[in-house]
Amino acid sequence: MSADLGFVHRYLPGEDDSGPTLLLLHGTGGNEEDLVGLGEALASGAAILSPRGKVSEFGAPRFFRRLAEGVFDHEDLLFRTHELAEFVEAASEEYGFDPSKIVAVGYSNGANVAASTILLHPGLLGAAVLFRAMVPFEPEVTPDLSGMPVFMAAGRMDRMIPPDNTQRLAEILDEAGADVDLRWRDTGHPLTYEEVREAKQWLSEVLPKLSEGQEDR
Ligand code: MLT
Repeated sequence: MSADLGFVHRYLPGEDDSGPTLLLLHGTGGNEEDLVGLGEALASGAAILSPRGKVSEFGAPRFFRRLAEGVFDHEDLLFRTHELAEFVEAASEEYGFDPSKIVAVGYSNGANVAASTILLHPGLLGAAVLFRAMVPFEPEVTPDLSGMPVFMAAGRMDRMIPPDNTQRLAEILDEAGADVDLRWRDTGHPLTYEEVREAKQWLSEVLPKLSEGQEDR
């Protein structure tokens, strides 16, 4: 655990400095340790950067404030998203990983802050895996996400994330030019093994092409 760069976080170097880095973003009540095993399972050999959300909801870490379940504090969301983007940039300088190969892997609240980062800082993330994501906000200006690979996995019976909201996020990303792969399952909020397997397969195709795709954008 490290508390510098403004966020308590874990950083695990990858096999190769020029390889990809997974930015792991936990769900409500999680921390920087939660998704490390998931990240290793998804892309062994990738570097891992895993911050802890700075907002506390009755002691549960989150990446931004919410007013109620599924109702976000817009101002705080914007502020926290910019703060996270600055942290990612500072971490890339501090640890020397390639900033063009950062892939967000977020679950629930972490997927929502990842989606917000994609919309507010296009180009910061090379790709994203969004597990159980919803619309963080409706963008006033459509960002240019041409060719950005985004994997989304959603549960039709998720009681925290309304399916039409996930669908809307996929549309927003698609309209901005992202290459969205949205997978639905008859499941609820918790992540399933099958989805991890599918995301791993998807990453194995996307990661080798990352820098080429970035150059095209
Ligand atoms: C959120 O607040 O970001 C969503 O409701 C998801 C969650 O926290 O689990």
